Amino acid sequence: MSQKKATSTPAPPDARVTMDKIVSLCARRGFIFPSGDIYGGINGFWDYGPLGVELKNNLKAFWWQRVVRERDDVVGIDSAIITHPRTWDASGHTENFSDPMVDCRACKRRFRADQLEDAGRCDAREGSSEHDFTEPRNFNLMLQTQIGASADASLVAHLRPETCQPIFTDFKRVREVARQKVPFGIAQIGKAFRNEITPRNFTFRSREFEQAELEFFVHPSEREKWFEHWKAERMQFHLDLGFRKESLRSRPHAEDELAHYANAAEDVEFLFPFDWQEIEGIHDRGDWDLSRHTEYSGKDLSYSDPEARQSFTPMVIETSMGVDRTCLALLIGAYEEEDLGEGDVRSVLHLSPAVAPVKVAVLPLSKKLAEPARELERTLRRRWSCAYDESGNIGRRYRRQDEIGTPWCVTFDFDSQEDAKVTLRDRDSMQQERVAIEDLVPVLRERMERAG
Ligand code: GAP
Repeated sequence: MSQKKATSTPAPPDARVTMDKIVSLCARRGFIFPSGDIYGGINGFWDYGPLGVELKNNLKAFWWQRVVRERDDVVGIDSAIITHPRTWDASGHTENFSDPMVDCRACKRRFRADQLEDAGRCDAREGSSEHDFTEPRNFNLMLQTQIGASADASLVAHLRPETCQPIFTDFKRVREVARQKVPFGIAQIGKAFRNEITPRNFTFRSREFEQAELEFFVHPSEREKWFEHWKAERMQFHLDLGFRKESLRSRPHAEDELAHYANAAEDVEFLFPFDWQEIEGIHDRGDWDLSRHTEYSGKDLSYSDPEARQSFTPMVIETSMGVDRTCLALLIGAYEEEDLGEGDVRSVLHLSPAVAPVKVAVLPLSKKLAEPARELERTLRRRWSCAYDESGNIGRRYRRQDEIGTPWCVTFDFDSQEDAKVTLRDRDSMQQERVAIEDLVPVLRERMERAG
């Protein structure tokens, strides 16, 4: 994938974009829907359908390309979701990773103590709709499981609440096998789990989600320089994904909101329909993690600089993107109900071609043209994710592709057999042009590279 900037033309901010519309589009077209839906769903868990998994995989591939492959100072890993239980004592999660919560004594529901304005009414009390809250107490957000067949011998373990800790425990080995010198980074994409008290806003706050994290190890004298470097890099990444400038902002954390491991932090925030909210955190974690794992494991995780003949514990600059939140933000940012006049409104997703689930759709004008159109589709499918649709009138078929964000449609008509040309339609401008079939692959390739 190219690192060039996406050039699709996203719509101006549209007040008509609501969470209900996005949730409904996602369910209707199979992007994202509740997990275990036939049993009534399970709060905080979501399944990605055929289009959703393409969107998510494209986002992860874009990130991996940018953060790992295009740099010679970052390497990747893929670690286990369950790791040694001591990891979480050392990282501080056993002690600190909690939210204050309260229970209602009457209806038995549980709420975050800092979000009581969302608690709604109590339906279990007589003569009052007010909840009868307990005092706040801390509730650890790590999801617990047991390892081993026998209950006696079983070991309590936790599903990782962030993907980065194995990067710290593997730091020494990975640095050595990759023959890297500080400054360098280790990246990973994977599942994380948090037993959120109140999952909400669709996939925004889930109990199972994915993170794309980079831990960048630097000399203590260079931590500010690298913090600035990664803040700029990460904002550019989101702009290159096709987000409008005015839908993103950076927000530094105040002293009292810093996580237990952070010396400084800045969020990349997106303007969701419900508020500005974080999609990525950039943290100066100092030497918190490596020092704690050294202390708890007894293994020295310091670094010996061969040139400076100096040994030190590296400082860590972290970038942590929520994959699901960014997918949700991409859908919201790309969605437009475009007024075409005379009551005609077109639903369109202006997704960058780099992340669009389907890159090109082949549409024969008539079912009689299925054979040559299928042949063309097979040629395109070897290179890109394609759709083929021969049902309904052509206008309706274009609209179906617009709604899922397909950047280009190729229409094979009766003339195509005579002049060996097809009609190429652009999703954003809706402009159509005739292109020779033999030029179609290079033309599309050139446009995709230009778009990022
Ligand atoms: N390792 C640092 C860390 O985990 P975080 O700010 O807690 O930092 C990083 O999480 C990102 O993970 C967030 O910016 C967000 O996008 C995503 N994230 C965190 N909790 C989430 C949840 N419950 N559901 C979906 N995404 C979540």
